[in-house]
Amino acid sequence: MVDETSIFIGASRKPDDSYQRAEELLLRYGNRHGLVTGATGTGKTVSLQILAEGFSNAGVPVFCADIKGDLSGISMMGEAKDFLVKRAEQVKLDPYQFQEFPVIFWDLFGEQGHPIRATISEMGPLLLSRLMNLTEAQEGVMNIAFRIADEEGLLLLDLKDLQALLANIAERADELSARYGNVTKPSVGAIQRTLLVLESQGAANFFGEPALRIADIMRTTRDGRGAISVLAADKLMMNPRLYATFLLWLMSELFEELPEVGDLDRPKLVFFFDEAHLLFEDAPKVLIDRVEQVVRLIRSKGVGVYFVTQNPLDIPEKVLAQLGNRVQHALRAYTPREQQAVRSAAETFRPNPDFDCATAITQLATGEALVSMLEDKGVPAMVQRTLIRPPSSRLGPITPEERRKIIAESPVAGQYDEAVDRESAFEMLQKKAKEAQDAEAQAQQQNSGGSRWTIPGFDDVLGTGNRRSSNRQTVAEAAIKSVVRSVGSSVGRAIVRGILGSLARGR
Ligand SMILES: Nc1ncnc2c1ncn2[C@@H]1O[C@H](COP(=O)(O)OP(=O)(O)OP(=O)(O)O)[C@@H](O)[C@H]1O
Ligand SMILES: [Mg+2]
Repeated sequence: MVDETSIFIGASRKPDDSYQRAEELLLRYGNRHGLVTGATGTGKTVSLQILAEGFSNAGVPVFCADIKGDLSGISMMGEAKDFLVKRAEQVKLDPYQFQEFPVIFWDLFGEQGHPIRATISEMGPLLLSRLMNLTEAQEGVMNIAFRIADEEGLLLLDLKDLQALLANIAERADELSARYGNVTKPSVGAIQRTLLVLESQGAANFFGEPALRIADIMRTTRDGRGAISVLAADKLMMNPRLYATFLLWLMSELFEELPEVGDLDRPKLVFFFDEAHLLFEDAPKVLIDRVEQVVRLIRSKGVGVYFVTQNPLDIPEKVLAQLGNRVQHALRAYTPREQQAVRSAAETFRPNPDFDCATAITQLATGEALVSMLEDKGVPAMVQRTLIRPPSSRLGPITPEERRKIIAESPVAGQYDEAVDRESAFEMLQKKAKEAQDAEAQAQQQNSGGSRWTIPGFDDVLGTGNRRSSNRQTVAEAAIKSVVRSVGSSVGRAIVRGILGSLARGR
């Protein structure tokens, strides 16, 4: 199993439609990325399924999104249905064995799998801005917010933290503008409103802790098979931006966390990016550049990225050029635009004198594809008309009971299921505001002539006025600064004035 050097994909056909030879993906080029394309119902998901099976059997962990729920069958033993057995014979897959694969189900909403979470700070300002579709000016404010959080030691974990920080920034807009450039209340307000929308779409579950540990999607079983992480994406697809941002985040996390490994005999992980067009649809150029860069560099970390989409034109040229292993299912060619797409798709292949690529693309049967994998020296092989092998696991979705059982028995069961809310920006800012309030109450008490009052740690300073040590002074100053920093509202300023007043009297 684990000493194999390739994944069997199917059998190519001669011009007379008879068997030609086995088509394979070489594991050592598994990190040179790939592309699976085709119109709806042409066999993309099944191709993804047999590739994922192949990688898992070769000991390579896989991460893939399950858009329609039909990939979940990979967790169950396949059944000898007639059309599958017939296909196995056509491609000379002998013996045709059935298998269930080690699957870990994940779900950003925590319903169809273990919750996946990321912290706001891990997500970073660029991806967050993309997720929230911010304008350039708003993105500038987001960058400043992250800088302030850094400088003031405010931990940004969940949406609450970001909301509290933004509220705080709105209150200090003038002061911050002087320091960092334009921070206007309206732009902060616009970001705050977008955050509310995001929250109402269920993103609150996603941001927080425990955050996903990359190691958990890179597991193998004791018998040496790679775990297949299946992300339930049906509900996620209703929020395509969240879907795209999440997968981008995951890719950049992998990129940042994994060491350089150079060329290996097989990848460390492969990543299938279904509905990949969502990544690039109205994405700003800087983001596309980032994706291009990550795709290019992640290869040397041993990670292969496979894009799955209807049309290769959905993928920007620069990214497309890096996808070495290609499976092109049928495309329609009714409209001029479709015909153009077919021609472009055909041109991306190394031609085969036996057939016209563009014509073939429109004539391919279901589960048949034009295939070109990287061969020796990493050169794309001549394109072949290929019947794709049938899967060993179940074709189609599993039942909710089957899913529950797998989730309960998963190696990460219990690790992510409960959210943890540790002290972070929200709590810290709240605490500071509370301290400021208490200080105000005490100051008022003093002003009204109360006989006994105290501010913890400042008794001497404020109480007697003339017994201030320089050390105490420092503490008091620090406290004032922190109050100024955390509460810039008129109430806040009043409090600050109150304390300053007491100190002034002591002088
Ligand atoms: N390699 C194959 N062997 C046997 N049957 C196949 C194969 N590929 C596809 N099929 C048949 O074609 C059907 C549709 O394939 P699939 O679900 O992969 O299409 P798709 O391109 O993912 O469609 P959509 O865009 O709607 O998701 C499968 O349910 C299966 O019956
Ligand atoms: Mg599909």
